[in-house]
Amino acid sequence: MRNILITGGAGFIGSHLVRLMVNKYPGYKIINLDKLTYAGNLANLKDIEKRENYTFIKGDICDFDHVKSIFETMKIDGVIHLAAESHVDRSIKDPFSFAMTNVVGTLSLLQAARTSWDGNYEGKMFYHVSTDEVYGSLSDNTTLFTESTRYEPHSPYSASKASSDHFVRAFHDTYGLPVIISNCSNNYGSFQFPEKLIPLFINNIRHNKPLPVYGKGENIRDWLFVEDHAAAIDLLFHKGKVGETYNIGGFNEWKNIDLIKLMIRIVDRQLGRKEGTSDYLITYVTDRAGHDLRYAIDSTKLHKEFGWEPSLQFEEGLEKTVQWYLNNQEWLDNVTSGDYQKYYEDMYNRQ
Ligand SMILES: NC(=O)c1ccc[n+]([C@@H]2O[C@H](COP(=O)([O-])OP(=O)(O)OC[C@H]3O[C@@H](n4cnc5c(N)ncnc54)[C@H](O)[C@@H]3O)[C@@H](O)[C@H]2O)c1
Repeated sequence: MRNILITGGAGFIGSHLVRLMVNKYPGYKIINLDKLTYAGNLANLKDIEKRENYTFIKGDICDFDHVKSIFETMKIDGVIHLAAESHVDRSIKDPFSFAMTNVVGTLSLLQAARTSWDGNYEGKMFYHVSTDEVYGSLSDNTTLFTESTRYEPHSPYSASKASSDHFVRAFHDTYGLPVIISNCSNNYGSFQFPEKLIPLFINNIRHNKPLPVYGKGENIRDWLFVEDHAAAIDLLFHKGKVGETYNIGGFNEWKNIDLIKLMIRIVDRQLGRKEGTSDYLITYVTDRAGHDLRYAIDSTKLHKEFGWEPSLQFEEGLEKTVQWYLNNQEWLDNVTSGDYQKYYEDMYNRQ
């Protein structure tokens, strides 16, 4: 039996990871600690919410006393930490909340793990989920981020994630805490809050709303199907080497504008429109401040050590993703209106 604390399990990637772990490891206890911010929704986990090996706790990772009591009462022996403020645009408007959750919240978890485990690290693991954005921006079209690329974050979001990575490493180096960090590229798939590019644009194309493209749409991102990210985390959590960093990515770079045109073709086709009908919705807007030009991740280490590869080709994953959002309009409406949030708030207040 292992008692695994997953933070941010009601969010996009977290919900996929919780689902995977609950289904794959009936002998584990999966404890999901989430504050349920605008980005977290228990509706993402409806299919597994009643499973015996799953527990949800509403709470803030910055609340050290609460986190510490969870470690002690639930006898936590593994942490997979995903809870974060995750949207770059929001970090530009409100950097403080990013420093609070991403830096102080991570520190609170590290300190709770260290003081609860108290040097007895046998069978313990603190796994920190980070991003490729900590590496900054690539100025040419050939270089890739490797695990030894120097950190050079540009946005308040990436600066806060970089800082949290440094704290995780410091706890390993200073106290011997068993840690693993993974830095992943952009994820796509079901249950992503529709402020992010792919779900936002699928929804806008469906409703004939403008598609705001930053600058000329020249920025390049590497995309990975969210279930592949969850599978890589599961693999590394169990088999990764303590103290190591692993990059996770799909060797799948897309210029934003090309990705948007591909999405338009897929959505138009799935809606029974002539492909390209919705091209007119593309609207170029002023570029995001400090917008990194290119992210591209080298995941050779993960592939060489464990034979890990993404399970889906991008076009296939995108077809599936478009289909999911088109079939789940109610989910989209409810997460944006806050209805699910209210439903679960009421439920927890009644208990
Ligand atoms: N989405 C991506 O493309 C991507 C890529 C690489 C790494 N990551 C990292 O993966 C993690 C998850 O990303 P995501 O896209 O699923 O994010 P998300 O915004 O969808 O979910 C974040 C979750 O954390 C919860 N949360 C926020 N603040 C909290 C707090 N103080 N206490 C407890 N819970 C809190 C939210 O309620 C939400 O459920 C983040 O750490 C992010 O930096 C994301």
